[in-house]
Amino acid sequence: MQLQRRNRILRQSPAIRAMVAETIIKPADFIVPLFIDEGENIKTEIASMPGYYRMSIDLTVKEVKLLWDMGIRCVLLFIKCKDELKDNTGKEAWNKNGLMQRSIKAIKNAVPEIAVMTDVALDPFSSYGHDGIVKDEEILNDETVEALVKMSISHAEAGCDFVAPSDMMDGRIGAIRTGLEEAGYTKTGIMSYSAKYASCFYGPFRDALDSAPGFGDKKTYQMDFANRTEAIKETLMDVEEGADIVMVKPAMAYLDIIREVKNVVDVPVSAYQVSGEYAMIKAAAKMGWLHEEKAILESLTSIKRAGADLIATYFAKDAIRMLS
Ligand code: PBG
Repeated sequence: MQLQRRNRILRQSPAIRAMVAETIIKPADFIVPLFIDEGENIKTEIASMPGYYRMSIDLTVKEVKLLWDMGIRCVLLFIKCKDELKDNTGKEAWNKNGLMQRSIKAIKNAVPEIAVMTDVALDPFSSYGHDGIVKDEEILNDETVEALVKMSISHAEAGCDFVAPSDMMDGRIGAIRTGLEEAGYTKTGIMSYSAKYASCFYGPFRDALDSAPGFGDKKTYQMDFANRTEAIKETLMDVEEGADIVMVKPAMAYLDIIREVKNVVDVPVSAYQVSGEYAMIKAAAKMGWLHEEKAILESLTSIKRAGADLIATYFAKDAIRMLS
């Protein structure tokens, strides 16, 4: 054959492949989710997330120092609320001395340079396990937004860099932005879970925080996985309302959405490789059906290639070890 173009020329050696690689993942791309528990010296493995732990504040602080030294620049905090503090108002969420508020302070004290993001949603604090205030089995929107504003201000007061509303109530980004402005927190950012789907892939996370909904599902507020244009609508509205960073969640089953969002917004796009995605790779690797390290690098690179500027992932440490 006398071909004019031979595409394999650029694939023939590791050196050439490295020269032409279009997508490179790096430590600062990652947002590391941390699950925090009350107590001291506590480290509990999450049953459906082997190799991932819920830790007390003291051990979390040690972990954050390690992450910073590895090149991680951002952590995303989730707390496990004690059962006796849960109710239908979620008021523990804005307790000045709550576990989240203490965690933010401890981390910022120990590693002031790291960007701290905090999950803003009522589910860990709700006796119903829902992301909002419940009345007659309905998740109330506007009442919940008021609670989310109080929660966000209390996180800002404790010193977080970004609040990350993951609840999918209408109008919450605008309300939180106004709330932060009025309270004088003009440097606190908002990373909005803009296109968050009602997904079975959150299962292991709900084990981690004991936050599974007590009745029904989250389909009246999280998005239907059949929908694409709705993701654009949600995201553009969040940007208009003041989101600094938007997010698509989950990631691997939604790469098309990540790309479409990336094409239309003028803010950084993040994607969340969620607990079920972690569990799937871990389980297949344990069975010997997938090569764990290769699956991690391929999945993370694909999420970035799809258009994610930032990736929330439970594999950040593994990925960094492989990259170095
Ligand atoms: C809470 C929240 C969830 C996740 C992040 N924030 C669970 C849910 O919406 O039910 C899921 C993260 C994961 O699965 O890794 N609103």
